[in-house]
Amino acid sequence: MSELVAVILAAGKGTRMRSKLPKVLHKVGGKAMLQHVIDAATAAGCDDKVVIIGHEAELVEKMVAGQGKTALQAEQLGTGHAVMQAKEALAGFSGTAMILCGDTPLLDGEELKKFYEAHKASGAAATVLTAIMDNPFGYGRIIRDAEGNVKGIVEQKDATEEQKAIKEINTGIYCLECPLMFDVLATLTCNNAQGEYYLTDVLEKLNNAGKKVGGVITEDSDMVMGINSRKQMSVAEAVMRERILDKLMDSGVTIMDPASTFIEASVKIGRDTIIYPYTWLEGNTVIGEDCEIGPNARFTDVEIGNNCNLHFIYGHECKVMDDVTAGPYVHLRPNTVIYNKVKIGNFVEVKNSNVGVGTKLPHLTYIGDSDIGSGVNMGCGCVTVNYDSKKKHRTVIGDNAFVGCNTNLVAPVTVEANTYIGAGSTITKDVPEDALGIARARQKNIEGWAKKYRES
Ligand code: UD1
Ligand code: CA
Repeated sequence: MSELVAVILAAGKGTRMRSKLPKVLHKVGGKAMLQHVIDAATAAGCDDKVVIIGHEAELVEKMVAGQGKTALQAEQLGTGHAVMQAKEALAGFSGTAMILCGDTPLLDGEELKKFYEAHKASGAAATVLTAIMDNPFGYGRIIRDAEGNVKGIVEQKDATEEQKAIKEINTGIYCLECPLMFDVLATLTCNNAQGEYYLTDVLEKLNNAGKKVGGVITEDSDMVMGINSRKQMSVAEAVMRERILDKLMDSGVTIMDPASTFIEASVKIGRDTIIYPYTWLEGNTVIGEDCEIGPNARFTDVEIGNNCNLHFIYGHECKVMDDVTAGPYVHLRPNTVIYNKVKIGNFVEVKNSNVGVGTKLPHLTYIGDSDIGSGVNMGCGCVTVNYDSKKKHRTVIGDNAFVGCNTNLVAPVTVEANTYIGAGSTITKDVPEDALGIARARQKNIEGWAKKYRES
């Protein structure tokens, strides 16, 4: 075990969320709050983590899976009692425990690392991270002596009027030296307004034992925002969104309208790409340089190359290479690969298909389970008839084929390279290379029929 471990408190119910889901599993910026905390702990240098679970323990444990140990707090008797449950997991550990809460999704790993370094440099047995809040209501207040040393923490419900006026609050984040921490936890009592074992009391006890206790004020009071309600969650969401967009803009991405742009932290975007309004980018989406994305684009787990222009479009679990133009009203579905210089769109759906270099699918077309070569032109209203009500079949179209408008290609079927397909055909048989495939009723003209009809 390294010198620094994280103990993350995530056993509480989160009553004020009024949810079936445990609070720490609610998502902010597309990621569970607890996952944000785990990631921040990792970034701060905590290779080992102990997550305290209790309410809906199995669900929370499933999320933690493989990212750290868990310790069960069967009954939630307070934050001090919660940390005690890490005793077994940290048996024999000598070093610093960084205590974090699972409901603070805006934590920043770099800031936590600085906090740990300040704690280490001070040689204190315990250091609390504090913040100055204009409205400190609800938080524990930091009690300092005349010299500015931290004497202890008093909870809102236990505070005197004078103490309630203190604006320096307890963020709930601490560095505590082990094994001393567990020795002091063992002496906690629960005679306070909430009848709980308060972790906060550890500081006063350490002071009384003559140990050094420190307090570091964070500049970033947003970072320590604890989420207790859906309303607070929406505030955190807005802060996170702004941070993500700021970072992207700093890295050379143009965001036309941050207020209508929703990008998850996991998304990567190259330089000089422009994001137009009403755009959602989610999951493992990666976008290259010099693209124009949106207006009205949603991509989930999509890989996009350079210099693409994609507007009024929804794509998920697919890949778009370079110099592609798509939209408006295009749906790119899973297992689709769109190669370089393809043009797609208006009103086109592509599913589980490969579309080769420079191919055009310009209007009102459905391509499903197909392998289309390069330089193919699909006319307006073409349909690959891929489903026979029992099975899906593939359509193969060779390079440079020209498929006339309103063609049905009934799969399984192969149209070889350099072919023409007559407009309005329903193609059920393979078409050999260099052939014309045509399958439609012949036209008959009846001379004078219309005139006679009008005059009858
Ligand atoms: C706590 C602090 C308070 C601080 C605030 C910061 C105490 C006594 N008070 O108050 O000084 O200002 O956090 O947000 O520590 N939890 C458990 N098991 C329990 C109780 C809580 O795992 O038995 C977890 C909760 O799930 C939550 C975290 O600990 O993630 C904090 O608990 P919460 O009840 O929200 O504490 P606060 O009253 O906000
Ligand atoms: Ca809280």
